[in-house]
Amino acid sequence: MIDFHSHILPKLDDGSKSTDMSLEMLSKSFDYGIDVMVATPHFYIKHNTVDNFISQRSASYNALMGKVKAYGADLPDIVLGAEVYYFDSLCALPDIEKLCITDTKYLLLEMPFAPWTSKMVGTVEKLVYDCGITPVMAHIDRYLEFQKHNSYIDDIMGLGAVIQMNGEYINGFFTRGSALKLIKNGTVSLLGSDCHNLDTRAPNLDKSFRIIRDKCGQKTLDKIDACGREILGI
Ligand SMILES: [Fe+2]
Repeated sequence: MIDFHSHILPKLDDGSKSTDMSLEMLSKSFDYGIDVMVATPHFYIKHNTVDNFISQRSASYNALMGKVKAYGADLPDIVLGAEVYYFDSLCALPDIEKLCITDTKYLLLEMPFAPWTSKMVGTVEKLVYDCGITPVMAHIDRYLEFQKHNSYIDDIMGLGAVIQMNGEYINGFFTRGSALKLIKNGTVSLLGSDCHNLDTRAPNLDKSFRIIRDKCGQKTLDKIDACGREILGI
């Protein structure tokens, strides 16, 4: 299975604090049945440039890979990406393609935590049609409350955007019903742990996989896995 959203790279954002922590997060994830982790450190246009982000990400990845090679047991493969926080001029950003998941034209997009606007949907539309980039909408579960009275999630899906949900929404007793409904009706195509550490926001997809398998069947998990593999070309 693929974890499509993670802050596994060390000392880069509010995720893993060290290479040792990253190794432990990777090891746990492998035990949970994850063979590929998409590393999606935060990118904020207010705080960074694309080139600086890419070089920081490379340094962090290289430091981790040095430890991974010496680890002596199987760990998930890491695919590099970014969790890009929305801004209005997204499409005007030179080199925006560098923020896409490696070797793809898919970009993990984090929307504002507020009711979306038609302007935001317009920006996503430009991303699709002008830049040729397909957004993967990060943790849709965090926005459902804000979008109750509009059709923007459907509008964005109509543009071809792919929807990612966090494991915690499936794992939570009170949110599970809503989560499974969104998986069953095809709104959600990808899962992510959005793991940041080993305690408060730890890898957690093992529980999500069990719940989906129990309530929707293995075929549903296979479909989610196949969608991720098609996007990554693996
Ligand atoms: Fe995240």
